[in-house]
Amino acid sequence: GNILILNGPNLNMLGTREPEIYGTETLSDIEEKCKIHAGELGMTVTFRQSNTEGEIVNWIQEARGTAQAIIINAGAYTHTSVALMDALLAVGLPVIEVHLSNIFKREEFRHHSYISPASVGVICGFGSRGYLLALDALADIL
Ligand code: DQA
Repeated sequence: GNILILNGPNLNMLGTREPEIYGTETLSDIEEKCKIHAGELGMTVTFRQSNTEGEIVNWIQEARGTAQAIIINAGAYTHTSVALMDALLAVGLPVIEVHLSNIFKREEFRHHSYISPASVGVICGFGSRGYLLALDALADIL
């Protein structure tokens, strides 16, 4: 099956963005790893990033019919976006929420997620490996 992997705001800055928190890999590095791992699992990946909330909402809506599941790192929209939660609930596909950092070890405002109520599960704190773990989980679920 095809898996839609969505990345939210500022994740295009990975590599140079707060490397002590997010590591030194770029988003392209992560995309490459995901594509290789998906291939090993017999899946394909569509990998996207946007700094614009509405664009991510559109991509979630379009997933119906084109993807079997969604992996999403919504970045800061995780903590603010009812619109992303509603879009994920509307399409009804299995969703896995991923964060590079352990959001529960950080500021209080990062402890709440609007994505979690629409997700099968959440993976955080394992860096880019989280995306690969999410693919593993989907290989079992689907
Ligand atoms: C993040 C965690 C969010 O709190 C933050 O706003 C991000 C990245 C992560 O992957 O650890 O942009 O989603």
